[in-house]
Amino acid sequence: MDIKALIAQMTLEEKAGLCSGADFWHTKAIERLGIPASMVSDGPHGLRKQDDKADHLGVNDSIKAVCFPAGCATSASFDKELIGKVGQAIGDSCQHEKLSVVLGPAVNIKRSPLCGRNFEYLSEDPYLAGKMAAAYINGVQSRNVGTSIKHFALNNQEHRRMSSSSDADERTIREIYFPAFETAVKEAQPWTVMCSYNVINGVYANENKWLLNDVLRDEWGFKGYVMSDWGAVSDRVKGIIAGMDLEMPSSNGINDEKIVAAVKEGKLDEKLVDQACERILNIVYRYVENAKPDTPWDMEAQHQLAAQCAAECMVLLKNEEDILPLNKQDTIAFIGEFAKTPRYQGGGSSHINSFKTTSALEAAEGLNICFAEGYSVAADCSTEEQLAEAVKAAKAAKVAVVFAGLPDSYESEGYDRTHMHLPAYMDKLIEAVAEANPNTVVVLYNGSPVEMPWVGKVKGILEGYLGGQAVGIATVNVLFGDVNPSGHLAETFPLKLSDNPSYLYFGGEGNRTEYREGVFVGYRYYDKKEMDVLFPFGHGLSYTTFEYSDLKLSASEIKDTDTVTATVKVTNTGKRAGKAVAQLYVGDVESTAIRPVRELKGFEKVELQPGETKEITFTLDKRSFATWNEQIHDWYVETGDFTVEVGSSSRDLPCKACLKVNSTVELPRHYDMNSIFLDIMSDPKAAAAFKPMIDQIMQAFGGGSNEEKSEAATEAISDEMGMAMMKYMPLRGTLSFGGSKEAALQVEALLKSLND
Ligand code: BGC
Repeated sequence: MDIKALIAQMTLEEKAGLCSGADFWHTKAIERLGIPASMVSDGPHGLRKQDDKADHLGVNDSIKAVCFPAGCATSASFDKELIGKVGQAIGDSCQHEKLSVVLGPAVNIKRSPLCGRNFEYLSEDPYLAGKMAAAYINGVQSRNVGTSIKHFALNNQEHRRMSSSSDADERTIREIYFPAFETAVKEAQPWTVMCSYNVINGVYANENKWLLNDVLRDEWGFKGYVMSDWGAVSDRVKGIIAGMDLEMPSSNGINDEKIVAAVKEGKLDEKLVDQACERILNIVYRYVENAKPDTPWDMEAQHQLAAQCAAECMVLLKNEEDILPLNKQDTIAFIGEFAKTPRYQGGGSSHINSFKTTSALEAAEGLNICFAEGYSVAADCSTEEQLAEAVKAAKAAKVAVVFAGLPDSYESEGYDRTHMHLPAYMDKLIEAVAEANPNTVVVLYNGSPVEMPWVGKVKGILEGYLGGQAVGIATVNVLFGDVNPSGHLAETFPLKLSDNPSYLYFGGEGNRTEYREGVFVGYRYYDKKEMDVLFPFGHGLSYTTFEYSDLKLSASEIKDTDTVTATVKVTNTGKRAGKAVAQLYVGDVESTAIRPVRELKGFEKVELQPGETKEITFTLDKRSFATWNEQIHDWYVETGDFTVEVGSSSRDLPCKACLKVNSTVELPRHYDMNSIFLDIMSDPKAAAAFKPMIDQIMQAFGGGSNEEKSEAATEAISDEMGMAMMKYMPLRGTLSFGGSKEAALQVEALLKSLND
């Protein structure tokens, strides 16, 4: 299709009209020109296709579909291939349902455990979120339907989500809040990007030219169209100028008229409207020309895939005395309503109308299970009878498994949590069961971390997250050892909420949220502060054991333009087959920038038979070592030594190697009378120029060679002391302490020649 020729035939009104949706889920058709409508749908972990009575918060019903594990779970798989497979399945479903774009993945960074949508989001770590998002997008798009990575950008809370300004510095945005989007764009080229509701440093995301044009398109090379989040548009004309192509859902013609008027009044270049239409139509036709509505949608097969995926995502947090896996011959108590009615997805726009669900109780049919309800979520309590029944069941069983987690109302799109507790009745139930039976295991179904006051009283904890409609199958498979757990935490579980770095500022004041913790999000903060956490980022146990060894780097010194490879051996030292998640972290040994101790820069999941060893190779490049430098507005590696650590979690890194990276970029420097000696001396050129002057001053301080120094001077002040005192002195200071006119002229001349 010659899109440009098509646009040339469109009236201004038709073009303006194309820049907003026809209704909740469709782009506009222009019948006169044979332009078809195209449909988009939520997303991300299944289809929420609505036919009529559309709404965006999941209140009205959508078609029956398959609910895969939510983002909180899939990211914990650390398995790019697996999330890619889920993407392929969703892509097939889209083709079957004639959907051009699925609205996801949702990749906003988990700045605080409180964000109501953390269950949809992937991680507190931008590298992990980016790689997993790219794999999902490549999976969906391999089926010739598009994705809409969302919510671009800095949409890390639900509180005042449509009005609040997320205020962060440039480096924090570049290092923490952008890379998930950046990696996805560079490695998977999503067909569309959804810009967020919120304001960023005072400018609405949907009107933000820097965001949507300069960074997303010019820097990262995004080729598709940008759509607004539903109802995010504030000033439509500013949006067109900024590169926000499609307003969703519909503007009811109001904003279309504003676009037309702005063009007629000469306030908006019609070319920008053409450009938005071209981007939208490129995608509309990309789908139309590759539509395969006869693609089968085998929901039963996808249910099995959802079960397999959920099992890969589960994180075994604790397994004292190898309480798990359970023995199929033993009598096991399943306690808690969630064993029968699991919570497996979150609320809001991602809510799927599952064609079926399988609970753990159903999946365990045929095993020796006794069940006690323990609590009722609807009644929001545990009655005395329920507690007594639970204790009785626990006492009669070899092992008691309590199913707990967060009820729907605790976390959802649209609002944030206010605390990190489980319902009090669940904590109480766990304590009572653990007292009745020392062999107690807790299974959690929740979308974000919770505090665990009972952590020391139970032997096993399995974090099941929101595992999708087949979560029960996965839970039973993991509990009884048919699947060896291999999920690892994509977020830190702090001991308590107030330990979290964003605690003081999360939610902000009025319409302003300052990201004052800067780059110290999640483990970047806890590690730097050497704080104890409940479970660290990257943590996850297995029924077997792994040993990491022989970390080798391909070079001990590189330039920042080179790459270096790291190889490491992983051995399964236990008795079962299992999957290890090798994680590689890079740290800057010494830096003028204030940096985290270590940052994830590589991960790989590998399956190993007992006794088997595999070698894993990681490639590190400039970005693995760089920080965002606000002086040059670019990535910059400061020359120096770096550590490379590999292991099974951010706090279990047995292998360590070092290398030196040399910068090929010279930072621009400028000196004046206010420049201090420390900065002058750290620049070889400036240090050489000022050396005679520095020597002279040192003499004045009583410095110089020991023979020259008087005994009294040596006693009063050593060279080191002199230097230490001198280093913060500005040039002008030396002149005011006993300088002269000639000396000042001399310094000025030196400065001029240096700056030139
Ligand atoms: C959500 C988006 C969603 C859209 C359409 C919005 O409220 O923020 O994530 O895709 O609605 O349902």
